[in-house]
Parts: sequence; structure tokens; C-alpha cells
Amino acid sequence: MVTLRDGVEMPQLGFGVFQIPPEETQEKVEEALAVGYRHVDTAAAYRNEAGVGAAIAATGVRREDVFVTTKLWNSEQGYDSTLRAFEKSLERLGTGNVDLYLIHWPLPSRDLFLDTWRAFERIQEEGGARSIGVSNFRVEDLERLEREAETRPTVNQIELHPRLQQEELRSWHADHDVATEAWSPLAQGGLLEEGTIETVAAHHDRTPAQAILRWHLQIGNVVIPKSSNPERIRQNFEVFDFELSEDDMAALERLDEGERTGPNPGSFDVA
Ligand code: A2P
Repeated sequence: MVTLRDGVEMPQLGFGVFQIPPEETQEKVEEALAVGYRHVDTAAAYRNEAGVGAAIAATGVRREDVFVTTKLWNSEQGYDSTLRAFEKSLERLGTGNVDLYLIHWPLPSRDLFLDTWRAFERIQEEGGARSIGVSNFRVEDLERLEREAETRPTVNQIELHPRLQQEELRSWHADHDVATEAWSPLAQGGLLEEGTIETVAAHHDRTPAQAILRWHLQIGNVVIPKSSNPERIRQNFEVFDFELSEDDMAALERLDEGERTGPNPGSFDVA
């Protein structure tokens, strides 16, 4: 568990459902819950919030024992539209509230995220979201919130993996007590045949994916690997019974090339 600045506890490892088709989501989330995951990360844009909610309702797991994150899509930024979009997400989820609500992208050129954030503060005050945060915010976007908003996000969910270690943002987060959450923690599968990672993984008799996830946990990230495969869903959860050495961590740290797999948050502006 990671304790967020507002006291909310968040499981450090979650199940990401980006790119899981809506019609498969319930089944995959049920598998993840059966394996032991207690944190699911979805978004309005993924069109699979209903499957996430249905899975939680279908299993014996209590709602309050699962940490549910969803995100506000770009086209809904702005004060009133955010309030409306949040209600729609809640209806699709059927979970009564969410544990974490995130602004999906900053869209700096539209200049709406401050109004959006004020709506987030209201949603939290009214109990709709236990905690509120952002995603894909750059240091300059976070600084703008610092200057002009009343509260600070508890979480920033960003693309982060050994090829894109986000040193500047992680250090800003550490200085401001903001949790770093990593999306595409496995670089969308692109790092699983990397030589250094294979060597480190073999040394611990683990898979490359497990070695990368363990690296995330040890640097303090919240991490949400996606898989549609039952064996890999299980494998990605088996990362609490081994530890990477300082040398292993240093070897992975040297893989940073500032290389994104996804869009650049400064210019991404898809409605
Ligand atoms: P699949 O769903 O077929 O398992 P990320 O979370 O970084 O976006 O990475 C997700 C990608 O990595 C998906 O393509 C997923 O494919 C693949 N993946 C997830 N876990 C594993 C694993 N343990 N071993 C190999 N590939 C994995």
C-alpha cells in the first residue's frame, strides 16, 4: 500500500485495462481479482468502465476492498462538463464512488485544466471520489496548479518504464508528496527482450516482466500492468517474494533513453 497525501491508501500494484476490449473486460478483471489484485485502473476513454464494475459486483470481493481509478476524457474538460462526465462514469461503473479520479491529459493549449480541477475538488468534497489526481501532467502543468489552485493532486499517472525514467517529474513528485503512478510500465511489452533485463530476470529465476515490475515497486512507483492473458495476469502479480539488488537496480537505471511509447503530453490534444 502507498498512503496518499490525503490519507487514502492505494495498492501499489494494480491491474490496467487500457486496450482490453469492452466485451472482454469483465472476464479479465474477474481473473485479476481472483489472483489477488485489489486495484483496477480504467478510464472513460477505454469504454470498459462497465466491465470493471460488473466484475467487482460479480465476485465476492467487497467494493471497499477494491481500489478503482477512472479518468476524465479530454472532450469533457471544463467545470460543468466534468461534473456531468463524472456522473456518467459512476453510472457505468456502478460502484457508488471511485477511489481515484484523474484528469487524463493536461491539454495545455486548451487552458481548461484549472476549471476542470475545481470540479474535481467539488467531486471529492461531495464524496464522489475519495482522492483526486492528474495524469500526463508535466512539471510546468503541476507548477501552474500550485500557483492557481487550492489543492494539489495526490497522484500523477505518467508513462514510465526503464526506457523513460522521468527523473525530473519523479523528483518534483517526491518534493511535493505526490505519488508517481506508471502507465505502460512494461513499455507496452517492448522491453521484454532487452538483454540487461533478461540477465537480471534470469539471475532471480523470474521473467523480464517480473523484473521490470519489481524495479518499479522498489523505486516507489504505483504500477498498473495490462495483460489479457490469464498466465501473464497471474505472473505480473507474483512480484512480492523477491528483491532486486543494488547492482540490478543500477543496471536497469542505465537503460534510460528518454524514449516514449505514447504521445507527448505537451502537444497531445485528441478530443
Ligand atoms: P498481453 O495482454 O497479451 O499479455 P504495458 O502494461 O506496459 O502497456 O504492457 C502491456 C503489454 O505487455 C501487452 O501487450 C501485454 O500483452 C504484454 N504483457 C503484459 N504482461 C506480460 C508478461 N508478463 N509477459 C509478456 N508480455 C506481457
